Amino acid sequence: MMKKLFAAILALALVGTVALAQPAIDGAIADGEYANTVEHDSGAVLYWTVDGDTLYMGYTMEASGWSGVGWLSEQTNRKAGADVLMFAIVDGEAVSYDGFQDSARGEPAHDEDEGGSNSLTDFAAVHEGGVWTVEFSRPLATGQETDVDIVPGEAVIFMLAHGNTMDVGRAHDRSNRGGAFYIEGFVF
Ligand code: HEM
Repeated sequence: MMKKLFAAILALALVGTVALAQPAIDGAIADGEYANTVEHDSGAVLYWTVDGDTLYMGYTMEASGWSGVGWLSEQTNRKAGADVLMFAIVDGEAVSYDGFQDSARGEPAHDEDEGGSNSLTDFAAVHEGGVWTVEFSRPLATGQETDVDIVPGEAVIFMLAHGNTMDVGRAHDRSNRGGAFYIEGFVF
């Protein structure tokens, strides 16, 4: 009986330790830093941890220009309704953009221009040798109409894209040419 109780307490203590380990948003992703990992066919790797009401996410992606990710809770017309995040190097500095996809195709609007704001609480983005390492944190629910809430355990359509220049006003290559991808059934 005591042995079982001790084992249960030890198990709880271990779970507690894992849950407390927050990823460091420093532009370097260490083995085991995140609770979840998915490698996409494109070669991009996604990493994420949900801790309390915060999402910690990272990715590596090959790209000569900007890179970004997005998610759609329900697909009605291509990418319309997606929350998107883009990262670029501007004047030598990493910049993050929080956007919202109003239209089925084409350029996302910046949240700032639509009554919202950049919802990232922290980010680090490094572009070295044509490969991005990006890390960011964001509240699961931001309360903004320009964002799509993240509900852990519920499947979404995850999107990846990258441009050929650092100008986020220039589109990625077409999806059928490897500039943008969907991951169906992605669960945060
Ligand atoms: C994080 C940022 C972005 C993501 C994740 C993303 C993702 C996607 C995806 C998955 C598609 C395929 C839609 C479909 O065929 O059903 C698409 C299409 C498209 N996107 Fe984006 N996109 C992003 C940013 C941009 C930007 C910045 C532009 C323009 C400045 C752009 C322009 C387009 C256009 C023109 C299409 C239609 C052409 C195609 O089918 O490939 N996107 N995007």
